[in-house]
Amino acid sequence: MAGKKITVIGSINMDLVTNTNQIPKVGETLLGDSFHTIPGGKGANQAVAAVRLGADVTMIGAVGNDSFGHLLVGNLINQGINTKSIMKVEDTSTGIATIIVSNGDNSIIVVPGANHHITPEVIDKHEDKIKDSNILLLQLEIPLKSVIRAVELAKKYGVRTILNPAPIQKLPIELLNMVDYLTPNEHEQALLFTSVDGTDEVLEKLKEKCIVTKGSKGVMIFKNGEEIEIPSIRVEAVDTTGAGDTFNGALATALCDGLELEQACRFANIAGAISVTKLGAQTGMPTKKQVEEFLHIHKSF
Ligand code: RIB
Repeated sequence: MAGKKITVIGSINMDLVTNTNQIPKVGETLLGDSFHTIPGGKGANQAVAAVRLGADVTMIGAVGNDSFGHLLVGNLINQGINTKSIMKVEDTSTGIATIIVSNGDNSIIVVPGANHHITPEVIDKHEDKIKDSNILLLQLEIPLKSVIRAVELAKKYGVRTILNPAPIQKLPIELLNMVDYLTPNEHEQALLFTSVDGTDEVLEKLKEKCIVTKGSKGVMIFKNGEEIEIPSIRVEAVDTTGAGDTFNGALATALCDGLELEQACRFANIAGAISVTKLGAQTGMPTKKQVEEFLHIHKSF
């Protein structure tokens, strides 16, 4: 049944973004072009992407009791996200990400801080929220055991789950079996099943859950053993940070809207492409109207 309630459980970070036309080598000091502090975190980014596209979004997460934490929760409230399930952790810093943007590409180091205080016990406290969702959206910037607990609860209530396995780590087969959709990028997909000890049949079943994002090359899904390529659109990339997050938030929204997987991927692909035209993960995330206008202009897409 279609319904627009999306719960996102994940990270909330302040992105410390340096723009430079050259990435420094070890031991080298360079002068950068500009510096910005911009709201980010894979969880928060995916929540913002979904709410801009018209979903009813609740975020479960954690920030420190510091200025970044206040700013980031304020930003989510301004976007229209339900933030009542975001906790403030004392004596721990809000998560941050140091990001270097160079010629449209990026390198990122995340210091999780408060994000790692989202324990399975915290997840249990939000069982009702999970139960009440149409889709649960997760990533891997919070402790893995909490991701597993959340997916278990979603399964208990028949709530569909999307796991964006980023940053990639070794995942237990039980978790992979439970989730409905996996959204790795190409690099993550290559590593996703390396630790899975299963028959070809098991691996094939897991592969069919994968929606592989390939940046400017689009998206790939698997149906009855066949690969289906969904092409992307050509845009002038300013900053690719958060493109995958936009894709995930948009995919969750489109599935909630009742779109079939292939159509949902097409929609999410366009949202992701539009998002890279501005600096910062959340800045360029489109509204539903912007995506629909694009689809209207490019009818053949
Ligand atoms: O996916 C992009 C995000 O990854 C950034 O916003 C950063 O905070 C890291 O979590």
